[in-house]
Amino acid sequence: MTLSRASSDSARQATEEGNGKLPRHVGIIMDGNGRWAAQYGMPRPVGHERGVEALRRTVKAAQKTGLEYLTVYSFSTENWRRPFSEVSALFALLKTFMNQDLKRLKSEGVRISVFGTREGLPEDVDALLDRALEETRDNTRFNLGIAFNYGGREEITRAVRGLAEDARAGRIEPEAIDEAMISSRLDTSGFPDPDLIIRTGEERRLSNFLVWQSAYTELVFMDVLWPEFGEHSLNEALETFASRDRRFGGLKSGAA
Ligand code: IPE
Ligand code: IPE
Ligand code: MG
Repeated sequence: MTLSRASSDSARQATEEGNGKLPRHVGIIMDGNGRWAAQYGMPRPVGHERGVEALRRTVKAAQKTGLEYLTVYSFSTENWRRPFSEVSALFALLKTFMNQDLKRLKSEGVRISVFGTREGLPEDVDALLDRALEETRDNTRFNLGIAFNYGGREEITRAVRGLAEDARAGRIEPEAIDEAMISSRLDTSGFPDPDLIIRTGEERRLSNFLVWQSAYTELVFMDVLWPEFGEHSLNEALETFASRDRRFGGLKSGAA
């Protein structure tokens, strides 16, 4: 049997870079805003507003802890299935967050990246996302990925379409397509694969978040609803991560 070079290389890279006790890249599925609001007899948008406060706390805690990359799932390609009023409220909140926080994030050395498709987004949202990218592009202290209008399958489909177009035009040979090339065509290409994905709000699923990138990611599901998340919950998830034995298909450390 010949060992696939591409997969052994990417596993080694992940082992070297992400097997420390502190993850380099954490992804968060920020779920449970609606249930939090319902618990207190409040309308759903209030839950989303509190969710933005939790996001602020979490970005601050992530910077303080020494993470390098944080990706937050803010709006999925499937969230369009919600009523128009809910979708509008979520777009309005992104605008509020950017308008209120962009200047501070910029001054703190945060570089913002946006993952997802711009298709279907209102012009003002599209422009605001571009502004966030442009204004923070020279920052290097901390990387914040915002998955907005994001779906892992949509991202992979776009990447595959690009590769097929390049092959048809003779720019690449189909044989040259390997895992690294596919990764480099994804929206997240500047980020390492996530070492840890946290999902709040009781569900145990990825809901189309970082589908390709999470092949060897540690998953931590927490019952806390997103508006209640903060430094304490983040540290709890990081402790769980530190206790995991990442094997990447190899043997338990010390077993050989
Ligand atoms: C997460 O909270 C926010 C987004 C999906 C954008 P939800 O709105 O999904 O809250 P629940 O799951 O209904 O409680
Ligand atoms: C996942 O939450 C999407 C975001 C957090 C943006 P959902 O609430 O949309 O996921 P499902 O519908 O429970 O799978
Ligand atoms: Mg939900």
